[in-house]
Amino acid sequence: MAIWFITLTLLFSSVAAAENPDFYEYISPSSLGLKKEKLLHLHFFFHDVSSGPKPTAVTIAQAQTTANSSSFFGLLMIADDPLTVGPDPGSKLVGRGQGLYGFADQKEVALAMLFNFVFTEGKFNGSTLSLLGRNLIFHDERELPIVGGSGVFKFARGFAHAKKYSLDTKTGDTVVEYNFYVFHY
Ligand SMILES: *[C@@H]1O[C@H](CO)[C@@H](O)[C@H](O)[C@H]1NC(C)=O
Ligand SMILES: *[C@@H]1O[C@H](CO)[C@@H](O)[C@H](O)[C@H]1NC(C)=O
Repeated sequence: MAIWFITLTLLFSSVAAAENPDFYEYISPSSLGLKKEKLLHLHFFFHDVSSGPKPTAVTIAQAQTTANSSSFFGLLMIADDPLTVGPDPGSKLVGRGQGLYGFADQKEVALAMLFNFVFTEGKFNGSTLSLLGRNLIFHDERELPIVGGSGVFKFARGFAHAKKYSLDTKTGDTVVEYNFYVFHY
């Protein structure tokens, strides 16, 4: 009798749960394999080449008024830029910086950057960090927010310090030294 009662109760409560499931629950970080949060420093060089037969950054749109804007306001580019350990583009490749940048300031040259950095080395292979921020590209040093990540970088947050390594003022081709400081698990 008692067994039947328990069985029926379980049956009805699981039916009720299926009909009216909760869409949320609180879980422990360890249930996702998250352990201790660590602070990581990454150092690499970013090669953005818009000139020549094999550009890594291309224009995808611009406004009619962009041609008359001293800050290139309205120009939108997309890039797939190699990331290397040294300033030489032939040095070891560790990932790629892929994203959109738009010239988003009417007075000075300032980009709105929406970038995913995908790494290809060692334990970071396939993991990404997402950067979203304002980039004053003609300043020698800039700071940009890192807003998230995937793979080993789940729950990542931090900032990127960008420093001009070289800039060809005729073509706009540039090498940027990046230091990323990222909290992740
Ligand atoms: C750009 O400036 C030129 C010269 O001042 C002008 O003739 C032209 O209409 C302007 N173009 C746009 C799209 O504003
Ligand atoms: C990174 O992962 C890809 C795809 O899983 C694999 O083909 C490649 O060999 C890996 N590279 C390194 C350096 O581990």
